[in-house]
Amino acid sequence: MQFLASYLLPLSALLLPAHGHTLNNAIPPSQDPWYKAPPGFESAAPGTIFRIRPDPSNITAVVSAAAAYNILFRTTDTRYRPSWAVTTLLLPKSPIGAKSNGTKSGDGKAALLSYQIPYNTADVDASPSYILSTVLAEEFLGNPPFTDGIVEALSRGWYVNVPDFEGPLASFAAGPQEGYAVLDSVRAALSSDPFPSTLEETRYAMWGYSGGSIASTFAAELQASYAQELDFAGAAIGGLVPNVTTIFSDPRSIVSGLIPAGLLGLTSQYPEAREFLLGQLKTEGPYNITGFLATLHLNVDEALVHYTGQNFEEYFVNGLDAVFKAPELARVFGNNGYQGYHGIPQMPVFAYKAIKDDATAGIADSDEVISRYCGVGANILYHRNSIGGHTDELINGAPRALDFLAAALDGSFAEKYNTTGCTWVDVAVNITASAIA
Ligand SMILES: *[C@@H]1O[C@H](CO)[C@@H](O)[C@H](O)[C@H]1NC(C)=O
Ligand SMILES: *[C@@H]1O[C@H](CO)[C@@H](O)[C@H](O)[C@H]1NC(C)=O
Ligand SMILES: *[C@@H]1O[C@H](CO)[C@@H](O)[C@H](O)[C@H]1NC(C)=O
Ligand SMILES: *[C@@H]1O[C@H](CO)[C@@H](O)[C@H](O)[C@H]1NC(C)=O
Ligand SMILES: *[C@@H]1O[C@H](CO)[C@@H](O)[C@H](O)[C@H]1NC(C)=O
Ligand SMILES: *[C@@H]1O[C@H](CO)[C@@H](O)[C@H](O)[C@H]1NC(C)=O
Repeated sequence: MQFLASYLLPLSALLLPAHGHTLNNAIPPSQDPWYKAPPGFESAAPGTIFRIRPDPSNITAVVSAAAAYNILFRTTDTRYRPSWAVTTLLLPKSPIGAKSNGTKSGDGKAALLSYQIPYNTADVDASPSYILSTVLAEEFLGNPPFTDGIVEALSRGWYVNVPDFEGPLASFAAGPQEGYAVLDSVRAALSSDPFPSTLEETRYAMWGYSGGSIASTFAAELQASYAQELDFAGAAIGGLVPNVTTIFSDPRSIVSGLIPAGLLGLTSQYPEAREFLLGQLKTEGPYNITGFLATLHLNVDEALVHYTGQNFEEYFVNGLDAVFKAPELARVFGNNGYQGYHGIPQMPVFAYKAIKDDATAGIADSDEVISRYCGVGANILYHRNSIGGHTDELINGAPRALDFLAAALDGSFAEKYNTTGCTWVDVAVNITASAIA
């Protein structure tokens, strides 16, 4: 056997391509059996790891990680039923806090960032675990790639967790689904073999912008009731979407191309509401059910391009308003679409938004939800930026979010930020041009 083994080893090495890192062996989730939960998964505790594998794409080369893993874990769906989801765990080359090796800073505690990407899709094959090294690593309409945040976090020595929080049905905009998946992804990541530290020896925080902030904010609200053992050092939420209908009720906004994915995502776990929705769509003419359902095979960038300039009123027999006001959908929006009703964030929060946010019809709904949290004792630093819109604030807010997260993750938070109460600050930050250049 010794002979055989030493004979086979070079042979199998020959089968590997010379530049292993450029290989992308990922199979779309809808076709990859790895993405199925094992029989009996329902009885496992939330956060339980069912499978773990080295990420089959070249994501480690794309973001300069030491290693990357996909983890399939038990979670809970938006109707509070047992479910599962996948996350990608990325290891930094030089972790902070790693004991006995290469400690860059910190006090011996490791740092993990749960990074919620606004992947805004109704197509499970457009989940981050599958498109992180390709679509999400590319610029889009002048915006930097979402992987930039991961590169930055890894370079700071943080572990990074990137959950497919929409779950196996791509339930875009389904708040509890997304929040539970984030919380369980953190449980899974922290308990996985590649993660070197214990819960107690680790600081962890969340970051999400726009669609990513929906997931982060619901996770922040749900943590106290669902994952009591987790003690987040902070949550940075930008471009907040406290009321999902503000996006969907403007048929011509900069994000209106996400209306089909949003309505299909929201109804993905409610068959009767889905049936009602489909019945509201026209069956012929230029804006019909076929065109609406095309989004089931589009990633976020493709959907925004595909539906550019379309008026979503046109798709519906009785107009868009009839859909938003329909009693058949009221409970779906009620249970999934509004923040400020599922719990109170227990961790320090940095919230940031453009006053003239053009995706969510301004900042009023964010002021409202922040006031609601602050009224019951939350600890929030809230920056309202007078410059730019929704897309600008993604870039303008990133350095301030990173400062907050760094303080939360390296233990210096109490020296730099208020640890109780709320601070509202009107800022005027414009770095858009320099960030894009
Ligand atoms: C990763 O793989 C993709 C193809 O799947 C390729 O376009 C890209 O250049 C690769 N990136 C790196 C850094 O190897
Ligand atoms: C220490 O970290 C470096 C990279 O920063 C790595 O190459 C080396 O293998 C590590 N050593 C141990 C003992 O973990
Ligand atoms: C959400 O926004 C809509 C307007 O788009 C408004 O009619 C509704 O009352 C809001 N719902 C909540 C719960 O804030
Ligand atoms: C439905 O819309 C598509 C464009 O999305 C168009 O190609 C097709 O002809 C339309 N179907 C009918 C029956 O009008
Ligand atoms: C802390 O709170 C005080 C009082 O509200 C405020 O003046 C100060 O700017 C806050 N500091 C930070 C770093 O937010
Ligand atoms: C932000 O900066 C860019 C580039 O310097 C400039 O074109 C733009 O007008 C500025 N926006 C505001 C609102 O000041």
